[in-house]
Order: sequence, then C-alpha cells, then structure tokens
Amino acid sequence: MIAGFWEQLDTPIFALAPMEDVTDVAFRTLFAKYSPPETVLWTEFTSADALAHDFGRTRVDHRLRFDREKESPIVAQIFGSNPENIEIATRLCVERGFDGVDLNMGCPVKKIESAGSCSGLIRTPDIAKETIEAAKRGAKRLGGLDAPVSVKTRIGYNEIDLPGWIGFLLKLDLPVLTVHLRTKKEMSDVPAHWELMSEIVQMRDALAPKTLIIGNGDIQSMEEARVKMSETGCDGIMVGRGAFGNPWFFDECYTPTMQDKLRVLVEHTHLFEKEFLTQPESRNNHSKDTAEGWHRMKNFAIMKKHFKAYANGFDGAAGLRANLMKADNALQVEEVVAHFLRSLKENS
Ligand SMILES: Cc1cc2nc3c(=O)[nH]c(=O)nc-3n(C[C@H](O)[C@H](O)[C@H](O)COP(=O)(O)O)c2cc1C
Repeated sequence: MIAGFWEQLDTPIFALAPMEDVTDVAFRTLFAKYSPPETVLWTEFTSADALAHDFGRTRVDHRLRFDREKESPIVAQIFGSNPENIEIATRLCVERGFDGVDLNMGCPVKKIESAGSCSGLIRTPDIAKETIEAAKRGAKRLGGLDAPVSVKTRIGYNEIDLPGWIGFLLKLDLPVLTVHLRTKKEMSDVPAHWELMSEIVQMRDALAPKTLIIGNGDIQSMEEARVKMSETGCDGIMVGRGAFGNPWFFDECYTPTMQDKLRVLVEHTHLFEKEFLTQPESRNNHSKDTAEGWHRMKNFAIMKKHFKAYANGFDGAAGLRANLMKADNALQVEEVVAHFLRSLKENS
C-alpha cells in the first residue's frame, strides 16, 4: 500500500471537503492560513476525461490551480470511468506536485453519474476497481515514492450497502477511504447515517487494518467532530458546508469575531479576483485558448455565494448582505464592508 503523506499525519485527521465552486484556490488559501497546518485540503472535482485531452484540459485547469508554497497537504480530486484517462489525469496531478490523488465515487449529479462516473461507479464495481488500478499506475513517480490514491464515496447507490460496496473498496488496498454517510439516492436530503460508522470501522479492522477511514456528513463544529470520532472510532473527519465562511473552522483555540469574518470576506474576494478574474500579465492575444488565458475566468457571482456565510449572525447582517450583493468587484466589497464597520462605530 502506498500511503505517502497520509503516513506522516497524526490521527485524528481533519480535512476540508472538496466542493465545486467553493473550495477553489482562493478559499483554500484562507484555510491554509487560518487553520492548523496539518488540515488536509482537497481540490474541487475535475474531469479526468477533460484533463486527458489538450482542449478539455484548458477548460478545467483552473480547478487544479493551487499554491504550492502555502497549500499542503493537498489532494487533487478527479472523476471518470475511463481507466486510460484516469491514469493520464492522475499522472498529471502527481507531476504538478499534489500530495495525493482522490477518486470521486460519490457525486450524485445526474448527468455525471448516469454516464457511469462518480456515484455511477457504485453500480459497476469492476470498473471502479479498474479506475483505482489505473490511478495507481498514474501515481507512480520515477525515482521517487509513488503518490497515494484514495477514494471518496457514499454508502450505497439506492440502498445502504456496506458489505457489497464499502467492503469491496476496503479490499482494494487504499490508504484512505472517505465515506459520506448517505446513499446516492439520499442526495443530501436526510441526516448522514453516523450510526453506521462503527460498523464501517469494524469492517475496516477486519478487511484492511491499514486503511484510514474519514467520516463525512453534517459536521458543524470541531466539538461535534471529536464526539463522532470517539463514538465511532473513525480516523478522521471531513467537513464541507459546516466550514462555509469560516476558515478558522479547524482551529480549536480561536473563535473569530465579526470583524475577523468581515476582514476575511474582503481578503477572500481579493484572492478570488486575483486568481480568477484578472488576466495574467504575460497573456498575449493567442492565449485565449490556454489555461492561463480565457479559461482563467470564473464568474464574480460564484464569489457572491460566500457572502451570506461570512455576513451572518450579527445585527445589521441582512442589510450588509444586500449591499454586498450589489458589488461587482473586490474594491467595491471592501468599500461596503468599511462603510458598515464605520457606521457601527458611529452608532456605538
Ligand atoms: C456546493 C458543493 C459542492 C460539492 N462538490 C463536491 C466535489 O467536487 N467533490 C466531492 O467529492 N464532493 C463534493 N460535494 C460533497 C461534499 O464534499 C460533502 O461530501 C457533502 O457536502 C457532505 O458533507 P458536509 O455535510 O460536511 O457538507 C459538494 C458539496 C457541496 C455542498
């Protein structure tokens, strides 16, 4: 088994969940700065089919952008059902310096899973196995240690199926298995089945004692994370929505103030603008089709999704949010926040 950086980490492990259009390089940079250094970061999921071809790669490359100096450990998450493309995409991620590669076997989005990828793989375990083997081939480093290949999945497709699906994965020699405790059919509509985690841990003990199990679903605080780990025996916790607007989530010694949150909102918006809305200086007229050109772009509306999470839970937050939603760039966001803080001071 190739455990790579996972072996160097102490348990319990804490990880920021991969979330499309949320955990991009801008958002993750804040976690790298404000959460403990061993917090494991994950990229948004990225299509292996796209990565394996020149044109497709230019369209998705921004999802794999990361700051090598600041973001570590970091795992690139890819998805697909074509082993050849998975191998190529894994190799590319390893060459770029990611600490590990994770295969998404849980996303329930119809268009993707009905094409046989992500949670679609729960229905085709043989193909899932082939993609894991392909990723392991792609993760080989010449003259160095191979990169670890992990899987993030759900507990079944239509029905909970621990022996059939989780048991199957546990036999595939994975250093880490992240389990989102819902079936594909359940989407995010029911509470995560934490009551099943002890059974998963027992299966792991029997089938794959070296595989670390990370539990995922509905965790809202570090306190809750620790309770779940001590109740179930899992090795780590991955947090998604609970960490929106809170890059201090994994820091148990610090509770951010409203001022902290607003300062970070501004910092986040500037980072987002720099990463996704600003053209690199070296750009020439032909770079429209390259990763560093036109496809650098994300839409400012994506950034706006974060505003509610930061500006929340204090007097005047609703009015502040309404003004933030009218902003079109980072400077305007900065002005709205500064105006809000000034008026608070004047009225106190
Ligand atoms: C906006 C959004 C985007 C997501 N994108 C991904 C993704 O790219 N890859 C993935 O494995 N899961 C993705 N997920 C699922 C999360 O990683 C996580 O499994 C799920 O939200 C449950 O954890 P939570 O309750 O802590 O949020 C996404 C979830 C959300 C809300």
